[in-house]
Amino acid sequence: MSIDIQTLAIVGTGAMGRGIAQIAAQAGITVLLCDAQAGAAGAARASVVATLEKLAERGKISAEAAAAAAARLEVVTGLEELSRAQVVIEAIVENLEVKRQLFAQLEAIVAPDCLLATNTSSLSVTVIAAACKRPERVGGFHFFNPVPLMKIVEVIEGLATAPWVSETLLALGRRMGHTAVRTLDTPGFIVNHAGRGLVTEALRCLSEGIAPCHAIDQVMREAAGFRMGPFELMDLTGLDVSQPVMESIYHQYYQEPRYRPSPLAAQRLAGGLLGRKTGQGFYRYVDNQMQPIAAAPVPAARPARVWISQTIPDWGNAVAALVTALGGVLDRGRRPAEDALCVVTPLGQDATTLCLSQGLDASRTVAIDCLFGLAKRRTVMTTPLTTKAARDAAHGLFAADGVPVTVIADSAGLISQRIVACIVNIACDIAQQGIAAPADIDRAVALGLGYPKGPLAFGDALGAKNILAILEALQAFYGDPRYRPSPWLKRRALLEVSLLTESNS
Ligand SMILES: NC(=O)c1ccc[n+]([C@@H]2O[C@H](COP(=O)([O-])OP(=O)(O)OC[C@H]3O[C@@H](n4cnc5c(N)ncnc54)[C@H](O)[C@@H]3O)[C@@H](O)[C@H]2O)c1
Repeated sequence: MSIDIQTLAIVGTGAMGRGIAQIAAQAGITVLLCDAQAGAAGAARASVVATLEKLAERGKISAEAAAAAAARLEVVTGLEELSRAQVVIEAIVENLEVKRQLFAQLEAIVAPDCLLATNTSSLSVTVIAAACKRPERVGGFHFFNPVPLMKIVEVIEGLATAPWVSETLLALGRRMGHTAVRTLDTPGFIVNHAGRGLVTEALRCLSEGIAPCHAIDQVMREAAGFRMGPFELMDLTGLDVSQPVMESIYHQYYQEPRYRPSPLAAQRLAGGLLGRKTGQGFYRYVDNQMQPIAAAPVPAARPARVWISQTIPDWGNAVAALVTALGGVLDRGRRPAEDALCVVTPLGQDATTLCLSQGLDASRTVAIDCLFGLAKRRTVMTTPLTTKAARDAAHGLFAADGVPVTVIADSAGLISQRIVACIVNIACDIAQQGIAAPADIDRAVALGLGYPKGPLAFGDALGAKNILAILEALQAFYGDPRYRPSPWLKRRALLEVSLLTESNS
């Protein structure tokens, strides 16, 4: 049972506190603004009022609604004035000891049934609550920046959090217009935990020399459908923010290989190549504008004929139809002719493994990624022995209709297959650990990370069996437990049910 909130307090009125204040006031709640720094709460109020006025000017809200919300914002000068709050939301500096001290202080001021919430993104709600005499009234209320636009809030249940606390925070989050999801108090909660796959696997692709960062970004954007490539994302966030999160989640999970950070990013952080904010990250920026990287020219070469492997008949047929549409000559022999380019269609394997398993000539074999279809950017992958002539002929042919082609070095699971499989696998393990309900994992990730789909629905769309096959091939090739499939994925793939399926009993 949740309680109806009329008055809430926000302690810490930086970017996050202001955002929360705005949406709470717009939801009809009286907001008490408090900050340790003199004048900060007043400045925060002025800034939120200015935002509300701007929204009214642009016709997003009525002038009356803006004025009414502004009138609900009250500045207080000290914690002792928070005794009338039903909920206190803490959004101060991300420091465990400082937060614990604040919560202990607040307990002596607020009413016995006042709910205490923390907006921490990386600290344990259980450990913050343990500083209180009544830890059951403490919960996490994790918003994302900028709060009014990022319409997701994680409600975190610490070990002692009482059900009325999470119910109240879930209802409050929804009343503020956000999707509110329940999560257990675990490192990274849902969103920052699920976000480990994209960036760490992209860094592995880079460190293996499979492709440069802009090529990996292009594949993830244009073929896999992500709004932003992993390296563009790291540049936007800044490695000073994202690398410590990678390190922290990895160590909090006792060196779980799925979250293993990359020495490449650690070195770049140490070298000050933080991203947009320093003008140099994985890309170079001038006046905050990313400097373009010229596309490789499309070779004029074409193969004499093309032999296509039928290990996955649907994909073999799709590539054959494409080759014909592009004006190529098909070699339909059981074995490739002497002058044929050999094309294999990996599902998790690398080009070399597939080439050898079919007794093909590695010097004229390439792979093409079919998992995301062939209509958008196409990924063509060479073996270490593929000749430049064979590579250029494949590139020229597959780009003949103007669809861009990315040519990469050999990699189990190419680029998009391995990165997406890691993302789906991590989400499956979040479900397996009971951290959050499957539908909440998908909602939180789609809204918090802007992925094209929730990761479990993404896995369903690509085929849970395909994701399992990719991970098994990756694990077999690299021998790295990083790729071991989550039991959640394995069972649902074998049972041929959706990855969103909860246990019946
Ligand atoms: N910025 C983000 O992207 C983001 C996202 C999610 C969660 N968070 C979390 O929200 C919290 C605040 O983040 P922010 O970016 O708004 O920080 P910020 O530095 O912009 O603001 C923090 C505010 O808290 C005040 N403050 C510091 N110690 C205080 C204390 N003991 N008592 C009262 N006020 C105090 C500061 O004066 C400042 O105004 C942190 O816990 C952070 O982890 C931040």
